[in-house]
Amino acid sequence: MSKYFVSTALPYANGPFHLGHVRSTYLPADIFCRYHRMIGDDVLLVGATDEHGTPIAVQADKEGKKPIEIATRYHNMIKRDIESMNISMDNFARTTDPLHYKLSQDFFTYLYERDFIYPQIEQQLYCPNCGKFLPDRYVEGICPVCGGEARGDHCENCGRALEPHELKEPRCLTCNTTPVIKDTQQYYFKLSEFQDVLTDYIENNENLTDNVRNYARNWLEDGLKDWTYTRDMDWGIPVPLDGAKGKVIYVWGEAFLGYLSSAALWTRKYNPKWEEYWQDNAIHFIGKDIIYHHAIFWPALLKAHECKMPDNIFAGEFLSLEGRKMSTSKNWVVWVDDFIKKYDSDLLRYYLTIVAPLNRDTDFSWDDFQRRNNDELADVLGNFLHRTFTFTKKNFQKKIPQFENPSEEDLEFLKLIKACPDNVADHIEKMEFREGLVEIMKVVKAGNKYFNDQEPWKAIKTNEQKAANCLYLSNQLCKVLATIIKPYMPNVADKIASIINKSK
Ligand code: MF3
Ligand code: ZN
Repeated sequence: MSKYFVSTALPYANGPFHLGHVRSTYLPADIFCRYHRMIGDDVLLVGATDEHGTPIAVQADKEGKKPIEIATRYHNMIKRDIESMNISMDNFARTTDPLHYKLSQDFFTYLYERDFIYPQIEQQLYCPNCGKFLPDRYVEGICPVCGGEARGDHCENCGRALEPHELKEPRCLTCNTTPVIKDTQQYYFKLSEFQDVLTDYIENNENLTDNVRNYARNWLEDGLKDWTYTRDMDWGIPVPLDGAKGKVIYVWGEAFLGYLSSAALWTRKYNPKWEEYWQDNAIHFIGKDIIYHHAIFWPALLKAHECKMPDNIFAGEFLSLEGRKMSTSKNWVVWVDDFIKKYDSDLLRYYLTIVAPLNRDTDFSWDDFQRRNNDELADVLGNFLHRTFTFTKKNFQKKIPQFENPSEEDLEFLKLIKACPDNVADHIEKMEFREGLVEIMKVVKAGNKYFNDQEPWKAIKTNEQKAANCLYLSNQLCKVLATIIKPYMPNVADKIASIINKSK
């Protein structure tokens, strides 16, 4: 038995969950965890809402509310959405939890005392009209690298993480004024010292998938620069140093700690030591837009703190909607809550898994969703289950018949059924979640063909043992499905299990 520390990237608490969150991060993490629990591993799956930073502050300004009100509202919604998708989260916390503040401030102090953090005067954008500095999303402009539209710390177009003062043609988000440049003292993290350690980590960690390694490599080739760890802002975790009044820890400097504080809160409740899980296997599930942060900043921060770096980082790629990039600001999204009001969550779990492997961008379209639902879930899986159960009920008084004198075809099919769990498991272990599900559907398809070929509805009159063998094997496959489908579609699995009277 192994222990697994698994985390899902912390969503900003500035909006509810949409299909993109589920596809890139939460569903793959859940499939992975459910599978590992099933084979007897001890798994801790944690998450939290990311409640600081300009994403929340800007939303609060817009609504004339306090940031904590916004964070609370969306924390509750996101928690509800995660539950409605049957994500088997062990603890879902908040980065505004007092324990998170303490952990983040202690972490900062630890690095400061060891000279990994140093003060430096830098030039920052300041809005003379609003009378405040404009960190991160408070300023918009043009990306210095690709010329696309960029927000302070991030280019929407090329995905670069930016230093706010690098922006071209900057404007204050609040009042549109062109900001001026003003000196301010910030604290820097010595990221540049970790160039060699990180190069070794990225090149020699065999678990890492290609998308993560290649992306991180680009950054390493450019040469790492030190990183501003603080901001001039009211909303956030105060910098725990004398003379740092009005400064908070940069949201990316504490959000990662949310993985650990969520786990620590879990330990507080249930006792087992989360550190043992981290020590065994530490795996982060994230979206591809934050590979840089997780493959570069976070391992460096951990190293500086003399902690073990993650064993694996798994980055799901993007989901578009009807051929267009999803955008919450343009309201081009499908919210999980709206979806779940109409459909069972398993339908979405099936679709988002089968539609494409996770290391590829893919599209959600309602037509395709409907087609796969009808052609695959109903016609293949539903049909097989239905015909097996109704035939057993009608012709064998709800009892699974005896298996005797099997034919060649029976034995062939039995072989397929027996091989299926291991094949699926192999794929899940390699993080090939789609391939595992494809394997399941292949065997069910073969089940339908076998059922058609055996024609038990005829055999029952002329050769009862033939029909009995067919139904015996079909029920065996149902029993196997009740287990192997569970990581993918827990509701469907439970339903099958209850029909065949298998304990859950
Ligand atoms: N809130 C960030 C985002 O949505 C992700 C933070 S992941 C963390 O991009 F672990 F670093 F918190
Ligand atoms: Zn302004």
